[in-house]
Amino acid sequence: MSILVTGAAGQLGSELCTRLGQRATGIDVGHLDLTNATELAAYLESASPEAVINCAAFTQVDRAENEAARCHAINADAVRVLAEACRKLDVPLVQISTDYVFGGVFGGEQGRTAPYTEDDAPAPLGAYGASKLAGERHAATWRRHVIVRSCGLYAAARPGQQFANFAQTMLRLGRERDTVQVVADQVCSPTYVPNLAAAVLFLLEAKAYGTFHVVDRGATSWHGFAEELFRQADLSTRVEAISTEQYIAARIRSGASVGEIAARPAYSVLDTAKYGRLGGPEMPAWQDGIAAYLAATR
Ligand SMILES: NC(=O)c1ccc[n+]([C@@H]2O[C@H](COP(=O)([O-])OP(=O)(O)OC[C@H]3O[C@@H](n4cnc5c(N)ncnc54)[C@H](OP(=O)(O)O)[C@@H]3O)[C@@H](O)[C@H]2O)c1
Repeated sequence: MSILVTGAAGQLGSELCTRLGQRATGIDVGHLDLTNATELAAYLESASPEAVINCAAFTQVDRAENEAARCHAINADAVRVLAEACRKLDVPLVQISTDYVFGGVFGGEQGRTAPYTEDDAPAPLGAYGASKLAGERHAATWRRHVIVRSCGLYAAARPGQQFANFAQTMLRLGRERDTVQVVADQVCSPTYVPNLAAAVLFLLEAKAYGTFHVVDRGATSWHGFAEELFRQADLSTRVEAISTEQYIAARIRSGASVGEIAARPAYSVLDTAKYGRLGGPEMPAWQDGIAAYLAATR
């Protein structure tokens, strides 16, 4: 018996597979497209894993706006199949979710400064967040579910891997340019993937069923994150603060249409107290996440 990790080629899935070693069976879209419900159900029945950690997802937030059906098929419909299979096998399902389930009208009010707890009502702003929330609801139909909401994931790619994340994009731009413009009015808790992976495995081993917020400690804007990244990377690149409105205007000037740009929460900091009470691996400060990331990229 092994732990089935979906999205095994992705940032979190690959980290979990590395940590689990021989205990993991990793699958990705090249092996099995999760949107093929019949194949997925048959695969799970024959593989009979001891647990499923679902890291597979349609994660391109902007593209989701124009590809909402595909996004929903991966992020929601596939989770329904996984939950049904896990119920039949009587094994836990760990479903990775996102801070983007928050930010809409029921609590995403401008000026919010209180981190969201697991009891806050989700209200996604865009197609990606809505699909992830639907996925959570499917996962929660099976009693032995662990829903882990995290935020702004970034990992260092190992040889042969290619990840698209904010830290990597900023490092590239920082080396190419004197100045970069970064939004300063979206505040969250960017999280270094190995920190999240340790917490996910702890929650699974602890049989801690329910929903948990797991992010690196503290909060910052993407502007603040880029400044700290450059400081620690010894890059003298200037980080110019812009508003989301200015960012969208610039994207439109360079050819994007409004419908291709997803609305994002102005504030989506997650309260991790519920996770913290379990006594698992402590989540480091986001600045320490950057330090570990830079060390891993060297
Ligand atoms: N990235 C973030 O900032 C962030 C923040 C909060 C929460 N999360 C959540 O955390 C989880 C892990 O994120 P991540 O950053 O590790 O994602 P990732 O790097 O994008 O990995 C996701 C993996 O799922 C695969 N996949 C996509 N569609 C699939 C399909 N139909 N069938 C099978 N596999 C498929 C992807 O393959 P392709 O690359 O070929 O599509 C990719 O290898 C996701 O649930 C995500 O929603 C992410």
